[in-house]
Amino acid sequence: MMQQLTLDDAADQPLYWQLYWQLRQRILAGDLPPGAKLPPSRRLAEECGVARATVIHAFAQLQAEGYVESRTGAGTFVVDSLPLRRGRATAVPCRPDLSHWGQRVQATAVPVATPVSGRGQLEGEPETAAAAPEIDFGFGRSFSHIFPYDVWRQLLARYLSTDDIILARYGSVAGFTPLRQALAAHLAAERGVRCTPGQVVIVSGAPQTLDILCRLFLKRGDSVLVETPGYADAYNLFRANGAHLTAIPVDAAGLPAAQIPPGVSARFLFVTPSNQFPRGGTMPVARRLALLAWAREQNALIIEDDYDGELRYDGHPLTALQGLDEDGRVIYLGAFSKVLFPALRLGYVVLPPHLVEPFVQAKRLVDRGAPTLTQAAVADFIQEGHFARHLRHLRQVYGERRALLVDALRRHLGEKGQFSTEPAGLHVMVYLKLSCREAEVVQRAAAAGVRVYPGAPYHFQQPAPPSILLGFSGAPEDLIEEGVRRLTAVLANMDAC
Ligand SMILES: Cc1ncc(COP(=O)(O)O)c(C=O)c1O
Repeated sequence: MMQQLTLDDAADQPLYWQLYWQLRQRILAGDLPPGAKLPPSRRLAEECGVARATVIHAFAQLQAEGYVESRTGAGTFVVDSLPLRRGRATAVPCRPDLSHWGQRVQATAVPVATPVSGRGQLEGEPETAAAAPEIDFGFGRSFSHIFPYDVWRQLLARYLSTDDIILARYGSVAGFTPLRQALAAHLAAERGVRCTPGQVVIVSGAPQTLDILCRLFLKRGDSVLVETPGYADAYNLFRANGAHLTAIPVDAAGLPAAQIPPGVSARFLFVTPSNQFPRGGTMPVARRLALLAWAREQNALIIEDDYDGELRYDGHPLTALQGLDEDGRVIYLGAFSKVLFPALRLGYVVLPPHLVEPFVQAKRLVDRGAPTLTQAAVADFIQEGHFARHLRHLRQVYGERRALLVDALRRHLGEKGQFSTEPAGLHVMVYLKLSCREAEVVQRAAAAGVRVYPGAPYHFQQPAPPSILLGFSGAPEDLIEEGVRRLTAVLANMDAC
């Protein structure tokens, strides 16, 4: 048996570890059965051509993990009581039954790549290099080369010193206090949000906030009102948490309270008033007040998703619905994904004062708080004026790209589609006036070297009216016009389908 041990001097792993590992394998396979005596260390060292200390070290590791025991004066033995499988039965893969929640999550059917090598496939990235389109109207991406990485590096470095206490301790579950203070001041000044720093909680993103809110306040079968088209991830989260969804079609001014069917009561109303996602369009104050009145009557909470509200290209960003709330029923969601970068995985929620405590308690259970290092850097980024400067820069660069895209669409699209001209956000959604399936448009555009994105997943109503999304934040300026030209040529050839 021991002749089969093969130790390799040149391998990365130390010799003692190789010996330990091979003995362990033999014990687990039953080749060295419970109670078997291992060869004396001196003999095994000679047989393997290694120092005796190497064997002693390997035996010590086996003993520490409970595979062997040493009996004084008698030698080293495989532990008698190892409950090993009998024979060489093949492994029976463990397939646990999904919980009801797990089944509902599976039913959302969003493909999730879980690569274990390389840097991992990025969201929205084609599976193979060959599939990469020449012109990609990817949306929801940040335009990385205008982010001030030099400043960011300096801010991170400040907190990466060995004597910095904030890295040696768990942070506050509700978030890093200077960041909560900086956000409260920024949101009050820029977005008309009325809150104290104590109402701002730092989260890992909008999905975490929604999940916690569902777990805290939704009972099985409760209704949630959503917009259609709308935020598909929110639909799925509400569904996974057992909600019944009622979707209200939006128009150019967002969700019309008047269209909420009488008798529909809901625990949550999820809206994107600053810039309706994904259609585009802003909600005027009359509709906002009507929604607040509806929510008051129903005793519902309004979740205001303002993930891209800072990105307005014509005048000052709009003020938030939250600022009109007198009753503490609006929960305001903000994100850094679009204005800093998505991989940061930081966002924030402004809660009515009485909801802070339960929310933070729930967050303590599920993740113990967002990473302090990046929160501290973002706090300084805001307080030292970099954020305001970066936002001005983003608005200029994205505003120019949006203008190019909208202008090209106006000139080339003609009667074939309709889109919101709201000067905001990171994409334009085009409703196609064609009888073709949008999947066909997406496919044919890809064949022409242009990647556009289907609108159906964002619609509650099925079949969804054909639509496509074109992001402008990541598309190089000089290719926008060409991309639209190729897309509209594709559409022109599809009249007959
Ligand atoms: C409608 C909507 N809300 C919120 C978010 C923010 O999500 P996160 O905080 O996970 O970046 C996004 C991101 O794309 C979004 O599309």
